Amino acid sequence: MMGTKFLQWDLVPIPLMQFKKVNVRRLQRWLLKLASAILMEPLYMGLRRRLGEPFTRRLQMEQSKERTYFTQERKKRKKRTSSERTVVFESLQLGSTFHRPELVRNCLEQSLKKLKFDYLDLFIIHIPVSLKPGPDLSPMDENGKLIFDIVDLRQTWEAMEACKDAGLVKSIGVSNFNRRQLEMILNKPGLKYKPVLNQVECHPYLNQSKLLAFCKSKDILLEAYCALGSQRDKMWIDQSTPVLLEDPVLGAIAKKYNRSPALVALRYQLQRGIVVLFKSFTRKRIEENFQVFDFQLSEEDMKTIDGLNKNLRYLSLIQLSTPPAC
Ligand SMILES: NC(=O)c1ccc[n+]([C@@H]2O[C@H](COP(=O)([O-])OP(=O)(O)OC[C@H]3O[C@@H](n4cnc5c(N)ncnc54)[C@H](OP(=O)(O)O)[C@@H]3O)[C@@H](O)[C@H]2O)c1
Repeated sequence: MMGTKFLQWDLVPIPLMQFKKVNVRRLQRWLLKLASAILMEPLYMGLRRRLGEPFTRRLQMEQSKERTYFTQERKKRKKRTSSERTVVFESLQLGSTFHRPELVRNCLEQSLKKLKFDYLDLFIIHIPVSLKPGPDLSPMDENGKLIFDIVDLRQTWEAMEACKDAGLVKSIGVSNFNRRQLEMILNKPGLKYKPVLNQVECHPYLNQSKLLAFCKSKDILLEAYCALGSQRDKMWIDQSTPVLLEDPVLGAIAKKYNRSPALVALRYQLQRGIVVLFKSFTRKRIEENFQVFDFQLSEEDMKTIDGLNKNLRYLSLIQLSTPPAC
């Protein structure tokens, strides 16, 4: 650019030498357009004032109607979402391949994005077993063995705490943690938030009374899954294990209260101060299960159900870290 003259226009240097390359015909056409625009503008404005006003007004009215419609819709949606969120408690689990602290927030954000949520009510560490990070949720070696990862779960917990601080989750908790693993988190130096709950397998055949007492002493809620004895999926559950809802003692108590064994199994947990999960794909059963609040088991019957405990676990940790298709 040596020797080129510059024209300073709005502080943008335009090399004058470039005019040499301008096509004269294109420049003439452009000048003609510019001149007609300068001349036509007042005429256009006048016409717009005289003829265009009714149209402009109609357009403005349409635009304002549209704006009102969208504002109302947004308000409705906001109302709907806030009321739905008070009824529906949204909870997610942190998978075992995301235990490394640098992966936790990203995992949560990806899920929130997919669900189109701004936040979750509860986020829990699914199991206290870490697996090799990567796209495969059940990473296996060539011998079909799970590939584990070494992660200090206290660091995972710190990353969970950061998610809560960032407003991405209301509460954080754990699942399938035993007493020792809970203590590891509770005794962590600089602990900011303790787990609000521990979600574990719990039913009359595995009543978790010791873990329940420990959780209560630490003000941690115990949440029961497999409360109805699981779905008994052949892929997951040993079919030779006894079927909880066919237990004769549970059946006799159910008869006494004129309820189903399922309702008695759910009610048993509620009366112990346990948050109970149930799963059903049947409308009739979902409705039936909500009758859990309509009756009360006597102390004697609670003790009888306590007596059914045989420390029988339907699911193992290894099963939980492996999808049934594997
Ligand atoms: N944190 C963990 O590691 C973990 C592990 C397992 C499960 N969970 C959670 O626990 C929840 C509960 O699932 P689950 O697998 O443990 O099952 P569950 O609730 O113990 O049992 C579900 C089975 O019970 C049947 N059922 C439901 N209501 C019934 C009734 N009134 N009478 C008779 N049968 C009834 C259902 O059949 P129909 O569908 O045919 O009604 C289904 O087959 C799951 O949604 C999952 O989120 C968590």
